[in-house]
Amino acid sequence: MKKIAIFASGGGSNLREIYYQIQIGDIPAKIVLVVSNNPQCGAIIFANEKGLENFIVNDTRFPNLDTRDKLLLQALLKAEVELICLAGYMKLLPKRIVKEYKDQILNIHPALLPQFGGKGFYGMKVHEAVIEAGAAESGVTVHLVDEEYDHGKIIAQKKVKIRSGDTAKTLAKRVLKVEHDLYPKVVKAFCKDRVVWE
Ligand code: GRF
Repeated sequence: MKKIAIFASGGGSNLREIYYQIQIGDIPAKIVLVVSNNPQCGAIIFANEKGLENFIVNDTRFPNLDTRDKLLLQALLKAEVELICLAGYMKLLPKRIVKEYKDQILNIHPALLPQFGGKGFYGMKVHEAVIEAGAAESGVTVHLVDEEYDHGKIIAQKKVKIRSGDTAKTLAKRVLKVEHDLYPKVVKAFCKDRVVWE
């Protein structure tokens, strides 16, 4: 049983998906902490509904950056977190957390990295850029997290074809569906120690 922390700033649909896969016994894990910078986001509402421990980390609550980072790391260590899953988390992770949890932090990105990734490529902006570029396909990437945005080793990708007439919105919808399939699978593989580097 791996102890997982999920970091999210938005709707929390990936959190939900992972939660339900754990509930039905498909992923051998327990969500021990949900972290967000936004106390009002869907992910935190869901966490509260389900009685999941949560931790809000933002500059209103902790104005001092160093204190904020330290308290977050403390919360993760106290909860004995073994895997961190970023699921729409809008903040860059503190360096000390990336270091402490080296190769134990996953992120999901709604495009085929290394294309359409990096600083500024988040949310709808990703899909808008894909459509604007006239790409034939987009997709989903799950990767390890390092100190740069969308940069660590890629673990899994799944393609999504662009249809004629697609808008950023219609594409985003199809990509999110694929995310809900791919992310729990990777989390499951990780929890079963099936992610190995050759
Ligand atoms: C997803 O599209 C994910 O790829 C990106 O942020 C979005 C989060 O969606 N990093 P949700 O909050 O899980 O619904």
